[in-house]
Amino acid sequence: MAASWLKNAVFYEIYPQTFYDSNGDGIGDIQGIIEKLDYVKSLGCNALWLNPCFDSPFRDAGYDVRDYKKVAERYGTNEDLEELFKVAHEKGIYVLLDLVPGHTSEEHEWFRESAKEEENEYSGRYIWTDTAFSRGDGMPFIGGEAPRGGTYIINFFKSQPALNYGYREIHEPAWQMPIDAPDALATREAMKDIMRFWLDKGCDGFRVDMADSLVKNDGEDKLATMEVWKDIAGTIHEEYPNAALVSEWNKPMQSLSAGFDMDFYLDWRGNGYSVLLRDYDIPKFGKPFEKNNSYFSVDSERDIHGFLRDYLHQYEGSKDKGLWCLITGNHDTVRVAPMLDEAERRLAFAFLLTMPGAPFIYYGDEIGMRYRWIPTKEGGYQRTGSRTPMQWNHSDNLGFSAAAAEQLYLPVDPADDAPTVEEQEADPNSFLNHVKGLIQLRGAYKDLGNYSPFSVYSAEYGSRLFAYKRGELLVAVNPGRQLMELGLDTKYEIVYAIGEPVIYNRTLIMSAQSFAVLKPVEW
Ligand code: NOJ
Repeated sequence: MAASWLKNAVFYEIYPQTFYDSNGDGIGDIQGIIEKLDYVKSLGCNALWLNPCFDSPFRDAGYDVRDYKKVAERYGTNEDLEELFKVAHEKGIYVLLDLVPGHTSEEHEWFRESAKEEENEYSGRYIWTDTAFSRGDGMPFIGGEAPRGGTYIINFFKSQPALNYGYREIHEPAWQMPIDAPDALATREAMKDIMRFWLDKGCDGFRVDMADSLVKNDGEDKLATMEVWKDIAGTIHEEYPNAALVSEWNKPMQSLSAGFDMDFYLDWRGNGYSVLLRDYDIPKFGKPFEKNNSYFSVDSERDIHGFLRDYLHQYEGSKDKGLWCLITGNHDTVRVAPMLDEAERRLAFAFLLTMPGAPFIYYGDEIGMRYRWIPTKEGGYQRTGSRTPMQWNHSDNLGFSAAAAEQLYLPVDPADDAPTVEEQEADPNSFLNHVKGLIQLRGAYKDLGNYSPFSVYSAEYGSRLFAYKRGELLVAVNPGRQLMELGLDTKYEIVYAIGEPVIYNRTLIMSAQSFAVLKPVEW
């Protein structure tokens, strides 16, 4: 049984580097997050996901952890993080930390020990080959860096050696071990220990980085990685029934069966999620954006099937096990603004916030912060442009920090019309208030809840109109320029509208770029 709070959870993702700098050193911090909890609450969000805030050399923005049990100095102290849990809880906000179980930094103490020639407790904590000249059996590997006579497998960047959870198919018995080998089991226990450490301090669970990457040579079905998670997640859920786990996996039939409560629907080029919002080429530095061909782009002429083909069978196959979560974006994706303009984004967010799964809003998306072409920072590369400072108001550094502009972790959006919280809070028609209204709508109808059923009502091939049921409610969206009509199966009234949808007899008429939530009249 998943934690009961997930039923109504609406998450807000905070990139700690750039949310709010409370001490004027140019980088966001935990006290800054505490100061802004009322803002998070005002949105209607009741849960946070913080990107990694642990000690790290920051070769991959903190996804290269050097000490899992220590908050990075630049964000504050462990006590600050505990205070964040406490104050957040007082305000009814749950907090997920980011767990990186697949790799550490090359500067982690475990790795330093593991790289030594003489055998020690950590010799088997990472995946080392048997000689300094061995190749990685299809995995990227590094050689020539350590006294130990072996090469080691990496999980992502060069600075991120892969932790050892064992192999499913063993091709190289000299150095690949099965998943129940003592060293592989010790890695699992080390992860459980880290999770307990933070759960005991008051966090409410974890977003789990690259959760599908643990066991190597595991095939497409990931059976061995699932087995490992059944153990880790099973243990944690038993000991902490209120803890929630969300995986970066994007295969809910696997991840939710493996014991995760939620999985992300991620932006993988060409998948259902990406054709909804992000069917454009990754922007190239200094080059204009390509035309956006996604479903919510007004002129794309696309129907909803690119999404449904990918989504429906996975939703159906996993809905009884947990939540498959739609995101507005995250720290790895290109922000939807400006690729979708505001009218397009209004519809897109209305869709995202009326679908099943716990919604995740990436900081700044609620005010339409824009993707920017800026040089890479801490291994961000093209992702850096989605990680710029939160735009609070039009004071210096857009209210993010009191530091000098050149000291900021990343530059703020220099545009005169850079959207800000302050401006949009004051304008009842702002995008921010639109998003708040949608979160309120979601909270007002239990049929829009995270676990409430979803089914397709109308999705004709070639048609821009898409209509779906959430429980008894009917939701319709028309992202195109043509007026669309939809036959209704019963008498409804419109309880929420964008554009000018109207009901005429038993027909719903959807104006250009419109959205409607309908409730049966005799309900
Ligand atoms: C996925 C994270 O979201 C990303 O930011 C990171 O670079 C990789 N995993 C490696 O940990």
